[in-house]
Amino acid sequence: MKLTQANFRERRDRLIEQMGPNSIAIIATSPVAMRNRDADYKFRTDSSFFWLTGFAEPEAVAVFETGDVGEEYSYSLFCRERDREMEIWNGYRAGVDGAVEDYDADEAYAIDLLDEEIIEKLANKEKLYYRIGQRADFDARVCAWIKQVDEQQRRGNGAPSQIVQLDQILDEMRLHKSAQEIELMQIASNISAEAHTRAMQKVRPGMMEYALEAELNYIFGQNGCLPSYNSIVGGGENGCILHYVENNKPLKDGDLVLIDAACEYEYYASDITRTFPVNGKFSPEQKALYEVILNAQLAAIDAVRVGNSYKEPHHIAVRIMVQGLLDLGLMKGDIEQIIETEAYQQFYMHGTGHWLGMDVHDVGSYKAEGDWRAYKEGMVVTVEPGLYIAPDDETVDAKWRGIGIRIEDDVVATANGPLVLTKNVVKSVADIEALMAQS
Ligand code: GLY
Ligand code: MN
Ligand code: MN
Repeated sequence: MKLTQANFRERRDRLIEQMGPNSIAIIATSPVAMRNRDADYKFRTDSSFFWLTGFAEPEAVAVFETGDVGEEYSYSLFCRERDREMEIWNGYRAGVDGAVEDYDADEAYAIDLLDEEIIEKLANKEKLYYRIGQRADFDARVCAWIKQVDEQQRRGNGAPSQIVQLDQILDEMRLHKSAQEIELMQIASNISAEAHTRAMQKVRPGMMEYALEAELNYIFGQNGCLPSYNSIVGGGENGCILHYVENNKPLKDGDLVLIDAACEYEYYASDITRTFPVNGKFSPEQKALYEVILNAQLAAIDAVRVGNSYKEPHHIAVRIMVQGLLDLGLMKGDIEQIIETEAYQQFYMHGTGHWLGMDVHDVGSYKAEGDWRAYKEGMVVTVEPGLYIAPDDETVDAKWRGIGIRIEDDVVATANGPLVLTKNVVKSVADIEALMAQS
């Protein structure tokens, strides 16, 4: 499944409605990022740029102009020209003809003409919608253009008198996912769930963390996908390092392994964490802690309901985990005080989720008018409680030290309650052990 030009057009129409007359919006894609010397990273289009255009080539800028009230708007796409030699070396380009024919632009220009053409487009517009702060190099160009238009006052031209942060509008639109977007995220989630299932089946004591990562990458690659963020494969105490990406240690018999890894499909991300025993069987301590987190996660998922506060799942997860820590003797004291003072941060130092979409930590504000906003249909959030007992934590009995567990799923708020996109990968102790016993 792929989005169509009709989908992208509908998004552009919605942006234009919010811009008002006599305005211009300028949006550039990301620059190509260098890896080392002349080797670059594989290009990944800027999410908001793609969200509006469906155009995934580097070196592209979209410009939308509105006229007087009620007039049509025009969409110009600046892109790389076709070039036989460059295409032999680096691959196909849509070119200016393709930009019009296949990407629905009203006008297309060679990207090299941007500095020249944009001056005329900017002249005498009232408002400029621009994503300030995304790219310092492009910000400087926009400032130079404004100055250049300003200098044409004696010719009767003036620069826009208002510059509006375009991201605020785009982020809010991207936060609310359409049925097609949910469908793409479901595909990404299914592939990622299959990858985690394979990891549970393939893991063996003595295997290297990177070898287990390769099993996940195999499933991503077989489906034409890449990871949506750097994969975390942490055995034993490495599971306590929240953004552990070295993945270069052996996986030990008796340890857990925490995998936080997922792919993106058609530019839509998934984000899954599972934690399971390297030898297929949880120890009593691992099981006890795991079940506390799983109970917290299930209750938190149930709170992803239209009308509930974004923070509700976090509050629920924290309360259940603190009670669990007290019951297991890992903490002492009064539950209310531990929550109030956030003393639980000794073991739980991150939030319970974030928006998910084209970006793994997706755009969209978390607060409105000073308060945590409420879930609406089509918002997608991760639910990812965890507990991390530092290997050198002498406040707890030695048997708990070095256990790191997180369980993460992707959840859509719908009219019928929470929809768990990532349900295809097992997570109860019994289901994990049963799956691993068969492999
Ligand atoms: N994988 C990144 C996160 O869970 O936030
Ligand atoms: Mn996450
Ligand atoms: Mn994650």
